[in-house]
Amino acid sequence: MDVQQLIDEASEAAATAADLDALVEIDRRFLGKKGEFAARKKQLGALDPSERKAAGQALNDAIGTVSAAVEARRGVLAADAEALRLADERLDLTESLTELQRGHLHLVTQARDRLEDVFVGMGFTVAEGPEVESAWYNFEALNIPEWHPARGSFDTIFVDLGEPEEVMLRSHTSPVQIRTMENTEPPIYIVAPGRTFRTDTADATHLPAFNQIEGLVVDRGIGLGDLAGTIDSFVKAFFGREVKTRLRPSYFPFTEPSAEFDISTPAGDWLELGGCGVVHPNVLANCGIDPEEWSGFAFGFGIDRLAVMRYQLDDIRELVNNDVRFLRQF
Ligand code: DAH
Repeated sequence: MDVQQLIDEASEAAATAADLDALVEIDRRFLGKKGEFAARKKQLGALDPSERKAAGQALNDAIGTVSAAVEARRGVLAADAEALRLADERLDLTESLTELQRGHLHLVTQARDRLEDVFVGMGFTVAEGPEVESAWYNFEALNIPEWHPARGSFDTIFVDLGEPEEVMLRSHTSPVQIRTMENTEPPIYIVAPGRTFRTDTADATHLPAFNQIEGLVVDRGIGLGDLAGTIDSFVKAFFGREVKTRLRPSYFPFTEPSAEFDISTPAGDWLELGGCGVVHPNVLANCGIDPEEWSGFAFGFGIDRLAVMRYQLDDIRELVNNDVRFLRQF
């Protein structure tokens, strides 16, 4: 076989090698130490010196040509192998993509937003206050002095900041009443939704961190009738026109008279929603508002409990378990 034939054969074999292993075999067969070209080189010694140089040159050129062919094929096969590996390792996301669901607001957030909408529609504005409060805002200004037994019933979580005064996580949203009245001239029509905290252990009906919404109206000639009418309007807007409301006498230090308000169920029972009353004159005076000129009403209730009622949940803790399978139903 002459050199050209050998080149052709080797090039052809390289170009059609099926994979890298086959190529290694071809490389060895033609270019290896004991390969075809090595054998030819050995034969050079037997040639006449006048021919040896040209024959050696031709052999080297042939080796160069075949090496190039092998390398070219190696490049192609390596790229193929890499592409295969990548395709193999690629995550197929199409399945999860078809399952992908759009998120939505948490049901407590939805309830809070709807409450805000209803009250804004009735002419209220939305106010906010801090979650960490002093005794003045959480208790004293609300007519709950240090000796008052009601103070214990709030199961307050205190914060140790080394301050001279008591500091606590607010145990209700009522301190926002005080902050608003301190800063705003009546007439005042606000609702204040926000997080509140108590030492309660979580169970089916309690959470240690929960949400309330507070309402406050201060204007001329405001009385219990305005309170009852406002509560009835909001409940009908939120739950539906067929839902009835009632007030039951109760006691809160910051209102006089005070009441608890209930809403009717389709079964004809009553469910307690929150507390309310006519703002105590001491509370107005504590905020620099003249109780002779102005009067008001206030109310407060739990937003989480409202969501529990509206969606008839068995356990309030579902609201904070963050189980997506539960949350996505609402
Ligand atoms: N702050 C009371 C509580 O958390 C609820 C409440 C009762 C708020 C009567 C009021 C009110 O504004 O007038 O238990």
